[in-house]
Amino acid sequence: MKLLLLGSGGREHALAWKIAQSPKVEKLYIAPGNAGTSNVGENVEMRADDFSAIKTFVLKNEIDMVVVGPEDPLVKGIYDFFKNDTELNNIPVIGPSKKGAMLEGSKEFAKAFMMRHGIPTAGYKSITAANLQEGLEFLETLQAPYVLKADGLCAGKGVLILNTLDEAKKELQEMLGGMFGDASATVVIEEFLSGIECSVFVLSDGIGYKVLPVAKDYKRIGEGDKGLNTGGMGSVSPVPFADEAWMKKVDERIIRPTINGLLQEGIDYKGFIFLGLINVKGEPMVIEYNVRMGDPETESVMLRVKSDLVELFEGVAAGNLDQKVLEEDPRAAVSVMLVSGGYPEHYDKGFPISGLDQVNDSIVFHAGTALKDGQVVTNGGRVLAISSYGVSKDEALAQSFSVAKQINFEKKYFRSDIGFDL
Ligand code: AMP
Ligand code: GLY
Repeated sequence: MKLLLLGSGGREHALAWKIAQSPKVEKLYIAPGNAGTSNVGENVEMRADDFSAIKTFVLKNEIDMVVVGPEDPLVKGIYDFFKNDTELNNIPVIGPSKKGAMLEGSKEFAKAFMMRHGIPTAGYKSITAANLQEGLEFLETLQAPYVLKADGLCAGKGVLILNTLDEAKKELQEMLGGMFGDASATVVIEEFLSGIECSVFVLSDGIGYKVLPVAKDYKRIGEGDKGLNTGGMGSVSPVPFADEAWMKKVDERIIRPTINGLLQEGIDYKGFIFLGLINVKGEPMVIEYNVRMGDPETESVMLRVKSDLVELFEGVAAGNLDQKVLEEDPRAAVSVMLVSGGYPEHYDKGFPISGLDQVNDSIVFHAGTALKDGQVVTNGGRVLAISSYGVSKDEALAQSFSVAKQINFEKKYFRSDIGFDL
């Protein structure tokens, strides 16, 4: 088979690494990819949301399947673009329809969906400039801290958590006034939930599904989960509290109702569902849905998927995923992100990276890298995800931290406490 994978981050390098191991794959293209993906496939200079360029490429290169990494092309409707085009509609796209992608593309849609299907989540109210007064009054009924979420996509920046009522009221008005442009013209005000979070990944063909290994990510820049939010500084899989009994609750109360709800509402969903869950006194609740894999969770989850991922994708495309087997690697896997100093605020790019060729016992996934005159250089905030196996998470972490020290670039930074709370 010839596959095209869309995206360019650490998630896509991890997916490409796993896809390339499949004996079914004759050729793997990644668009646009990064310096790391070029080691497992061929990079194509093409944006992941340039649908007409993708069409031309897919037809010219006789692509058999398209796998979508990031949310953006999904929210823009790449699945429907293929389905509605007579030249493309026999080529499966692994990812939900535009309507399904609204589970991530609109917080209001996701909340209303969960309410319709009785899926446990925080209480909320959806507010626009027209019912601002209702929003201010709703805030008064809540206890601090206050959670405000921009309805639309904001590259992970659209959630504000405020400590005082005054701040919450002020920020609500600023959000509605255009703090995140159109994305915050509607704001979801949520009850604050307290507990430990984890990421559950489900691959579905729209009827059946497989649950991938559970992971936890570390979003804050500073150790002890302090400081600004980032795209994610590291991940660990498995997650001890997500044991069999807890996952049974997740399956019965969240996954099954989500898949059934999509089916009932006639929403085409053939791809990954990412459940951002929180464990509130032993009970799982949904913090958010995403319609793709997580980053940096994918960089540890892919290490723990033993089965052929492409075979699972074939099951998604054919609608017989139930007949496929998903086997997990019993070992622990972790990923530690090396980032550019200054991230998630201002940082510089273009620094040469040294030490990559001396790594033996870890798998280094590239996130923000590029090739410049044959040299791998930094090209983003998150630069490399150092992924390792271990009999325990501590053994895997020790391995990743040792490689994190070995690899160098100017102003390198990483969190040396990934997994501290598990
Ligand atoms: P989201 O973009 O929805 O994942 O929100 C970003 C982060 O904000 C989450 O990972 C949580 O840590 C936090 N968060 C979001 N919603 C809530 C909530 N209702 N209660 C507590 N924390 C929340
Ligand atoms: N690691 C969280 C995310 O991918 O959204």
